[in-house]
Amino acid sequence: MTTPDPLGALAFELLGPEHATVLFPVLGDARVWEHIQGSDGATEEQMRAAYARRAAGPSRSGERWINHAVRLVEGPYLGRVEATVYPGGWAEIAYVFGQEHRGHGYAGAAVGWLLEHVGVDEVWATTTPANVRSCRLLAALGFREAPRSRPLASWEPGDLTYRWDRQG
Ligand SMILES: CC(C)(COP(=O)(O)OP(=O)(O)OC[C@H]1O[C@@H](n2cnc3c(N)ncnc32)[C@H](O)[C@@H]1OP(=O)(O)O)[C@@H](O)C(=O)NCCC(=O)NCCS
Repeated sequence: MTTPDPLGALAFELLGPEHATVLFPVLGDARVWEHIQGSDGATEEQMRAAYARRAAGPSRSGERWINHAVRLVEGPYLGRVEATVYPGGWAEIAYVFGQEHRGHGYAGAAVGWLLEHVGVDEVWATTTPANVRSCRLLAALGFREAPRSRPLASWEPGDLTYRWDRQG
């Protein structure tokens, strides 16, 4: 059941190591990573280190990282969204949300918000075919399956690749 105004219910915070305290209980659940290689860390300490690396930003010049924790306004933390913006004027995104508040449209709204903040017109995402929620989320936002014509860091053999082009 999608919430009437899911975006209005959300708050975005620049992701930092301090978010491990609030996100480990949400994203430390192995079920969250069912369709994804790796995780944000098996312990809160590992997650803190992973978020510190994200907050430090890329070492490759010209690349830009966007990382935000997503929560309900004055409510629980739901997950996080990320984008890597490459010098050629395109970006790759990913998103991870906890089990508890799925199916309300929050993740879709958060990824839509991210698309408004990447600052480029061509955005890519990868997902496994079995990740039905992710495929539906991308399709609902206007992503289309497309042949992989960019060097996508998140791509694994067998993954579907989706491309979004800003309209107008
Ligand atoms: C992918 C993910 C973010 C989707 O979260 P969510 O809370 O279901 O997202 P939303 O509520 O915004 O819904 C997104 C779409 O999935 C649909 N959906 C919701 N529940 C569903 C279910 N049980 N089965 C299939 N689709 C479902 C929604 O209806 C919506 O599609 P629609 O707009 O066509 O109706 C979440 O499952 C997740 O974090 N998974 C783990 C991380 C991951 O796999 N990330 C993707 C790779 S980067």
